[in-house]
Amino acid sequence: MGDLMKRTLGMLLMATLLTACGAPETPPAQDVAPEVEAAAAAAAPEPSYEFAGSSASFTADQPTVLITGANRGIGLEFVRQFLAKGFNVIATARKPEKAEALNALAADNPNLVIEALDVTDYGRVEAMAKNYADQSIDILLSNAAITPRYKTAFQRVKGIDFDMARQSFEVNALAPLKLAQSFMANVEASDGKKIIVLSSKAGSFAEGPQMPMMYSYRGSKAALNMFMYTLAFETKKKGITTIMLSPGTVNTTEGMKMPNAIEPPDSVAMMIKVIDGLTLENNGQFLNYEEGRIVGW
Ligand SMILES: NC(=O)c1ccc[n+]([C@@H]2O[C@H](COP(=O)([O-])OP(=O)(O)OC[C@H]3O[C@@H](n4cnc5c(N)ncnc54)[C@H](OP(=O)(O)O)[C@@H]3O)[C@@H](O)[C@H]2O)c1
Repeated sequence: MGDLMKRTLGMLLMATLLTACGAPETPPAQDVAPEVEAAAAAAAPEPSYEFAGSSASFTADQPTVLITGANRGIGLEFVRQFLAKGFNVIATARKPEKAEALNALAADNPNLVIEALDVTDYGRVEAMAKNYADQSIDILLSNAAITPRYKTAFQRVKGIDFDMARQSFEVNALAPLKLAQSFMANVEASDGKKIIVLSSKAGSFAEGPQMPMMYSYRGSKAALNMFMYTLAFETKKKGITTIMLSPGTVNTTEGMKMPNAIEPPDSVAMMIKVIDGLTLENNGQFLNYEEGRIVGW
């Protein structure tokens, strides 16, 4: 039997078996007229992104900082301290309507704008960048993260929650990169020209805990460090200083004090000192909150 005949018989046999097993028939290909396709695309609703504000209420000639995850913890303290320094602040929160402390600050500070933002919603990130296209941003501060508070965070390998691992990667590593991509022009247009991401020594091979814990958090922060390290080669050419910053061990869990931890106001005050002192020489470095010591990778 020739090869062609063997292949034809084989295909016939396979088709018979698939039909017998109840495999679904491939639907016949349908031709859709281009004008019908275009009409369908035009009819599809555009996601509507409304923003609370713009830079209209900002003080001219004052620097501007954008802070993600600003409704609690370290992010909220950054808002307080940057406001005290006279900055215009764009503070983002997933649910601004529930961000009581942030709203209380906004009531007294017209130069604070609160925007709703889940950092994994790229459509919204891009729409927000468009909304603030004319606003220079001196400091882009990616603070939001999934921190290791969820139930399985400290489990060994058999207890890893891979959904949380994926989500941690999305929020902790990819989203800061997306934000940097989307707001790069705003930072480049500013005087300050700084991209700061809150990282963690937990993501360092050299200084992280030498024990099996926090797989998802540690992996996501290590990935964040590599993303930013790589990005720094690009930002240098634009005069932008990109750094990763470790806040230390900070008490941000309500009702819980961690051993040897510091309080958010102390950590943030020291981090702001480091941020203030940055030069392009620091581009690509992973720095500690205390005196800007370089953290080992
Ligand atoms: N605290 C420490 O000891 C410590 C140590 C090392 C590094 N860090 C880093 O420092 C930063 C702040 O830490 P923290 O202790 O203040 O954290 P936190 O108290 O857990 O607060 C995390 C913030 O991120 C926000 N967030 C989470 N997922 C988000 C998403 N998909 N989109 C937008 N926002 C989201 C949270 O918003 P919701 O309120 O809506 O959840 C919250 O505002 C993090 O990057 C963390 O990894 C902290």
